[in-house]
Amino acid sequence: MRTSSIKSKILEALKNSSNPVSGEFLAKTLGVSRTAIWKHIQSLKKKGYQIESTPKGYRLLAFADILSPEELSELPLKVYYFKQITSTMDFAKEIGEKGEEALVLAEVQTCGRGRLGRSWKSPEGGIWMSLVIKPPFSLKEAFFLTYIASLSTALSIEKTTGIKTYLKWPNDVLCKLHNKEKKIAGILLEVKAEVDAIKYAIIGIGINVNNKIKDSEPSAISLKELLNKEVRRKDIVINLVNLFQKFLKEKPEKILAKWKEKSITLGRRVKIVQPQREIKGLAIDIAEDGALILKGDNNQIYKVYSGDCIHAFLEK
Ligand code: BTN
Repeated sequence: MRTSSIKSKILEALKNSSNPVSGEFLAKTLGVSRTAIWKHIQSLKKKGYQIESTPKGYRLLAFADILSPEELSELPLKVYYFKQITSTMDFAKEIGEKGEEALVLAEVQTCGRGRLGRSWKSPEGGIWMSLVIKPPFSLKEAFFLTYIASLSTALSIEKTTGIKTYLKWPNDVLCKLHNKEKKIAGILLEVKAEVDAIKYAIIGIGINVNNKIKDSEPSAISLKELLNKEVRRKDIVINLVNLFQKFLKEKPEKILAKWKEKSITLGRRVKIVQPQREIKGLAIDIAEDGALILKGDNNQIYKVYSGDCIHAFLEK
């Protein structure tokens, strides 16, 4: 038995019992020694689980919202978990280079990265994760991964919390508070390609769950702030990864149709800011190649592949 699955089984036994569970019972049912059980308990304590050792056995004291491999053992992929890391994207890259597929999670990122070279605040309480996959796409189709990721993120938040979510082009997940749009999650895609084939892709996803949002970020919000209570991050992660893997097998046009249904950008007047230019106009559609189609104020039709999309802006 893998050591993480022994730990998951120990946790399961402790969660399911209101009475202490003896080391002897755990050792017998899991087919390992009592010393091995003791070692696993120490390692679980180090991960943040509050486990009391009583004369009658071990007892789990409090519900812990930990995104460890033991908690996520039902996911069909390898999970790496860090209390603190520079960025999950960095470790994901090391894994990708080795040819592995996995999910990397961290409680805190000290150098979290956002789109367009921005930094991404990643204190305790959020979901900071990178999925490393070897998708069956050509490089031209890689854009599609951000649509799958933002759609899965939005739907997993809705499924877990009941909060209505919206998608802002290219890949922000928003929700509304007093009719104001607020960012709840963002996606960062990094792809390693050789000629036209993708060697691996890293899909970085950041979700503001139970973390505190600074006053200096008025356009962001956390799920806890919206619901006035803590949210179980594990449920969001499991729903998200399952949806992502399901959508990966679906036809691109089906995904784009679902994405458009949840879009809060289409049909709106927007400003696209790129390093060399700004375009103002009406967001009309998403093209088959993932571009945003815009009818500019000069009546010209634009296909936009990247940039910042601003919904509400003051005319100069
Ligand atoms: C954005 O909206 O700008 C994208 C934000 C992506 C943040 C996530 S958090 C997990 C992963 N690690 C990072 O450093 N960035 C992504």
